[in-house]
Amino acid sequence: LFGFKTNKVSGYFDPIQPSNEDKLLLPKNFKYDVVAAFDDIINEAGERFGQGSDYNAFFPIGGSSSHGLLANNHEYTNIFALGTTDSGKFTQEQIQKTLYYQGMSVIEIYRDGNGVWKMDRQSKYARRINHLSKFQLTGPAKGGAAVSGAATVQGTFANCSGGVTLWNTVLSCEENYEETANLAKLPVTHYGWVIEIDPFDGTYLKKHTALGRFNHENTAMGLAADGRVVVYMGDDKKDACIYKFVSQDKYDARKGRSNAALLENGTLYVANLKSGKWLPVTIEEVKKVLGNEKFINPAGVTASKDELLKKYTTQGDVVTYCQEAGLLAGGMPTDRPEDIEISPFDNTIFICHTNNDSHGNIHGHITRIFEKDNDLTALEFNFEIFAAGGRQSGFSSPDNLSFDSNGDLWVVTDISSTSLNKGVYTSFMNNGLFVIPTSGPSKGQALQFASGPVESEMTGPFFTPDEQTLFLSVQHPGENTTDLSKPTSLWPHRPGDKIARCGVVAISGFKLG
Ligand code: FEO
Ligand code: CA
Ligand code: CA
Ligand code: CA
Repeated sequence: LFGFKTNKVSGYFDPIQPSNEDKLLLPKNFKYDVVAAFDDIINEAGERFGQGSDYNAFFPIGGSSSHGLLANNHEYTNIFALGTTDSGKFTQEQIQKTLYYQGMSVIEIYRDGNGVWKMDRQSKYARRINHLSKFQLTGPAKGGAAVSGAATVQGTFANCSGGVTLWNTVLSCEENYEETANLAKLPVTHYGWVIEIDPFDGTYLKKHTALGRFNHENTAMGLAADGRVVVYMGDDKKDACIYKFVSQDKYDARKGRSNAALLENGTLYVANLKSGKWLPVTIEEVKKVLGNEKFINPAGVTASKDELLKKYTTQGDVVTYCQEAGLLAGGMPTDRPEDIEISPFDNTIFICHTNNDSHGNIHGHITRIFEKDNDLTALEFNFEIFAAGGRQSGFSSPDNLSFDSNGDLWVVTDISSTSLNKGVYTSFMNNGLFVIPTSGPSKGQALQFASGPVESEMTGPFFTPDEQTLFLSVQHPGENTTDLSKPTSLWPHRPGDKIARCGVVAISGFKLG
């Protein structure tokens, strides 16, 4: 049923030790090439690679694992893009810059005859997607009062992680959108959605409101046994919920990209880890809960019953104010759910709960959900803590996840750069990339594969189909810099560089075992 290949990656690399060097360190016999870094020109129009590189997705051209398009998310900007601010106040120019450098890049890349990955700046596909891009809204909020009647909206930003669809497009998640929306005086309900782009078609730009509006981390799409499409999503905020969307209709491979209509019509559910139930986040449910004479506000919902009854009249209202509606529907707050992946081997669901200091969950954990009968559309589940962060496991604050074909989980960590190398985080040193087997004798044990430069986190691990290359973003090296004449990191240490640059690397050295 599941496609096992023979790439035993975790079986032959020698794990590295934690490090606090300003380097991207890899096990021996592995190397990396910087494919693109902040502010690099990406095409003949002179557009520039954005900042805050996060999610990566590689799309082969002509079936090749050595030539294709790479979509990369740009989550946020910092001092290296904007310069210093006058006591935190942004100028108009700085606001335009932050809008420009957030969003996404699509670039064309190839591995040359010497095995070095490079960007093709003559590419006809290479482009930026940012505040200048116009998106079609789809689903229940489209045209509704909650989004001021909008059917199209301007721009995207705060693009964190994402996922690929069964029809070869990218879903990219607007996460901490509030700050930029407020700064640029943009309607805040136009952001916080899951967007869809087609790397091969610059005219295709959608925001799917049926997937809810919250601090979206990523999407993990799976195909249920009955043909419906299921999308798991985390809301990366303290005390926030886990969601899944189940399409109404069935996937049909022959329909290609028009399968995207599946994301317009279906049911959004929120998880309750205590009852082991997925609860519908629908206007019917919200009205039912509010209609109960004995209604008491769930934790996290402060508005009065009258205010809530006025606020929620359509499904468009429910998806737009999804964090509150999810709690009303019975969702259980959790410790910052970041990336989610569906195991390609057994349909179990892996979720990074990165940490939550307000609950004393300092190192976070990886939760594994078992859907009833392994059915992705099930409305009941059980779960286990698959791996707990901390001294015993060697990692802290798990964030993005990726599976290889051996069933090993690749996990990057995000200890905040103000906590790195301090207190109980000291022994972990810089943020890393770890490999954790999900079965066999080493199940749940983290082996360190990479260590990031100073004050960085690594994000967006993504393998080529042949698993000979791993793309990885290096996000916010040197982010605690306050004086541009004294950057705390100079990664990637290009000759003449005076700032740190986030970017995407291609790691090679994998052997077929
Ligand atoms: Fe942008 Fe939740 O990480
Ligand atoms: Ca993240
Ligand atoms: Ca992932
Ligand atoms: Ca994070």
